[in-house]
Amino acid sequence: MTYSIALNFEDGVTRFIDCKVGEKVLDAAFRQRINLPMDCSDGVCGTCKCRCENGAYDLGDDYIEDALSEDEAQERQVLTCQMVPQSDCVLAVPVPSSACKTGTGHFAASVTRITRHADAALEVSFELDQAPVFLPGQYVNIDVPGSGQTRSYSFSSRPGQKHASFLIKHVPGGLMNGWLECAQETEKVDITGPLGSFYLRTVTRPLLFLAGGTGLAPFLSMLEVLAERDEKQKISLIYGVTRDQDLVMVEALEAFAARLPNFSFVTCVADPQTRHPRQGYVTQHMDADMLNDGSVDVYLCGPPPMVDAVRQYFKDQGVTPAGFYYEKFTPNPIVTGDAA
Ligand code: FES
Repeated sequence: MTYSIALNFEDGVTRFIDCKVGEKVLDAAFRQRINLPMDCSDGVCGTCKCRCENGAYDLGDDYIEDALSEDEAQERQVLTCQMVPQSDCVLAVPVPSSACKTGTGHFAASVTRITRHADAALEVSFELDQAPVFLPGQYVNIDVPGSGQTRSYSFSSRPGQKHASFLIKHVPGGLMNGWLECAQETEKVDITGPLGSFYLRTVTRPLLFLAGGTGLAPFLSMLEVLAERDEKQKISLIYGVTRDQDLVMVEALEAFAARLPNFSFVTCVADPQTRHPRQGYVTQHMDADMLNDGSVDVYLCGPPPMVDAVRQYFKDQGVTPAGFYYEKFTPNPIVTGDAA
């Protein structure tokens, strides 16, 4: 038996290592050729300090206070030369991946399907040469063939399979859109990743997902994982778009609602001319039940003004969610953050 340890480096790169039962993280990383920061490997210097964002672990008792204080331990700081995982874990490593002689994973991918949703979005599926391991919500950079440039997209499919899907906003004249207009099935692209700190944390309280437009993609990946594990916490999603035709993948959400009894969603359209029953922005369709007096983890993926509007909404309501994780997307690049 092994545990999967996600190492999230300062530059946004995520690498996964397997850790045997009873094995220290630093040893597991070196075994897999990732040179995590270290000096003494004896719990004395503190050089290997990281923060464990998720998962259960034994801190060990063979280190000194100078290396890791009680307060730091309370804040889930760990010494990787001492830490022994007791479950899958996510570690924030405070140095760039290159400093650990590692970097992003590379995948060769072939287009298997392109589904066009009028002028709103495209669903694009790829077959990869190996199954990517990622945390649901993370993204990759996809090379736009012939341009020397990449574009960033969140997985909408679940981790651990060779098949990967993405929901791509239709941008008239956009680089990726231009290529996809002419792309044939089996065309090849290079993909690098996974990247980003917007991912599903351990679920310990109700979840509120807020999606703006194609910001729905990471939630589709998260819902796949939540449905597979038959998550019992309440999960609410508000999916807001600008125009009626931008509401895509609603059937997929209905299918999740059928699989996951605790999941419900509403959609809304900002266009004042809409005939949709819920006009307006996501903040106009949040209710007290969803906010659960602040005992809720909020995940938001949408354009920057949406992130600002939601923050202001919480302020106005006097509610501070227990966890607030967001990903601001513009056509490029993606910016992630958390206010947990
Ligand atoms: Fe010195 Fe871990 S390497 S405390």
